[in-house]
Amino acid sequence: MPNLLSELDPLKQTALAELQSAADLPALDQAKGAWIGPHGRFTGLMKQLGALPKEARPAAGKAINAAKGELEAALLTRRSELESRAALPAEPTDFSAPGRRRAVGRLHPLTQVTEDIVRSFRKIGFVVADGPELEDDYHCFDALNTPPDHPARDTQDTFYLAQTSNATPSEAGAPLLLRTHTSSVQIRVMERQPPPIRILVPGRVYRRDNADATHNPTFHQIEGLYVDHGVTVGDLKGTVEFVFKELLGADVQIRFRPHYFSYTEPSFEIDFSSALTRKLGRTWLEIAGCGMVHPQVFENVGYDPEEWTGWAFGFGIERIAMIRYAINDIRLFYENDLRFLRQF
Ligand code: DAH
Repeated sequence: MPNLLSELDPLKQTALAELQSAADLPALDQAKGAWIGPHGRFTGLMKQLGALPKEARPAAGKAINAAKGELEAALLTRRSELESRAALPAEPTDFSAPGRRRAVGRLHPLTQVTEDIVRSFRKIGFVVADGPELEDDYHCFDALNTPPDHPARDTQDTFYLAQTSNATPSEAGAPLLLRTHTSSVQIRVMERQPPPIRILVPGRVYRRDNADATHNPTFHQIEGLYVDHGVTVGDLKGTVEFVFKELLGADVQIRFRPHYFSYTEPSFEIDFSSALTRKLGRTWLEIAGCGMVHPQVFENVGYDPEEWTGWAFGFGIERIAMIRYAINDIRLFYENDLRFLRQF
């Protein structure tokens, strides 16, 4: 059997070369079968050992085993190479290609306008207050001096719930509704704390309106309330002027027009004029309601109207945003069309 040993090395070299160059996993499996599988050539060599003289068997068996071990190692190496290659993408990665940027969101224009208004009022000592959107009609109307038979209720029709409120004795059994204005939060805050008060209330409100270019059944308001000793209409006008100049430009002019709200006396509508309104073809645009808090409202929350005075206002946030950004249809705010939202 000297020729078995002399054949072993070239045979091993051929087998190694075949295993190492297998182009894919099926080719590798085939090479494995041909050389070291149960019917492979090296397995066959082992079987021939019996034909050797007894004393030659150990050395020959050792040599065959060693060669087989080398082939098995080569098989494992090649298998892991081929497997990791199969896991790679077909196209090589281009590390010089620009990265994929995560889209950065931005604030909705209504949020931006709200935050700008809040920022201006913070400078003069106002804090943000909040109240429920699901309100009872006591806080939305009665406490604001608007009893059930008051005609002002007709202009603020809303969505009523079958359920009623029993939060406190004064409002026990009061129908629940979606609030028509943020003015209800004036009452909630005054019920909770004594004067002085300087609050700002941004929030969502509801009315039974059909949607068109200037109406939507859900929209946003921002309410202001200031209560202290000796507060005057002059303070109100100065404050409104300050905030609108910050918001819509230094050329803004403000005009107070007498109006009626049941919770203020006297009451006004605020008109403003600026390059923006002239661009819209108007000298004056109505933008808010306001007035001096009605003594009856103070009575309703337990404040002494002989001691305290105050003013309040309510702006429509959509309206301000529409003027500021020259938007001609309120519905654009609610459609979530990215082509619209990306502009702000
Ligand atoms: N609540 C009124 C509305 O929704 C706006 C308003 C007017 C608020 C006068 C006030 C105010 O606080 O004093 O139309």
